[in-house]
Amino acid sequence: MVSYIDAATAPLKNTGQIRIYDKADFEAMHAAGQLTARCLDGLVDLIKPGVRTDEIDDFVYSFARDNNALPATLGYRGYTKSTCTSINHVVCHGIPNEKPLKEGDIVNVDVTLILDGWYGDSSRMYPVGKIKRAAERLLDVTYESLLRGIAVVKPGATTGDIGAAIQEYVEGERCSVVRDFCGHGVGRIFHDMPNILHYGRPGEGVELRPGMIFTIEPMVNLGRPPVKVLSDGWTAVTRDRSLSAQYEHSLGVTEDGVQIFTSSPKGLDKPPLQED
Ligand code: MF3
Ligand code: CO
Ligand code: CO
Repeated sequence: MVSYIDAATAPLKNTGQIRIYDKADFEAMHAAGQLTARCLDGLVDLIKPGVRTDEIDDFVYSFARDNNALPATLGYRGYTKSTCTSINHVVCHGIPNEKPLKEGDIVNVDVTLILDGWYGDSSRMYPVGKIKRAAERLLDVTYESLLRGIAVVKPGATTGDIGAAIQEYVEGERCSVVRDFCGHGVGRIFHDMPNILHYGRPGEGVELRPGMIFTIEPMVNLGRPPVKVLSDGWTAVTRDRSLSAQYEHSLGVTEDGVQIFTSSPKGLDKPPLQED
């Protein structure tokens, strides 16, 4: 059975309880989320053919340091980079390296910046030069699935309602939802309760209450759902090597709906296609 706890008095570790945050906490999350969003905005002009993913990582590290923030992934469970950069059939947790991006790639950049102890977690897909129609369609379906998941969020709905909305839409578009990774509670802890599955049945899971803060971050494949993790211990790829995409927002449940903390101030939540 789930239980809820006042975030102000809860210990700063994942206790299995669901934290309920107050208005000041929402303001702090909004500040952290907006910093992450501005960082992701800054990548739109950087990402093009020939750019290396370790240059993206350097940008994020410098952006964080210039803004009194820290990238949450640095040193997290042995991870040593400031971002995850997941290209084409990489589902998530791709490790930045010296390989240049190629025309036609699609790359997810996942950034979590810690500002004043609050974690703003968000990711977007960036097209590299001109991309194929199939890739463009995958980005459209994945982004729309995130929006449909967010649209369900309000007090009284359940985490299963979110998953069901995403799964029903994605499978109706003849794509598939990755099962092995999920959204998560976030706040002053990177990965907290509840788990937000991106599939499921309406009415199942945990009831949403005002003051809850979590991510929604569906991973969608053009092929089948199964993934495998490469020998580096991090990089997750589609087993059938089909293209995979993901967008992520951090958000809070309000009295009458939802507040998205990581919305782009420039309207770049879904970075545009790069036309020549
Ligand atoms: N930002 C990822 C998420 O959305 C977590 C990355 S953890 C890492 O939850 F160690 F792989 F970087
Ligand atoms: Co993330
Ligand atoms: Co996340």
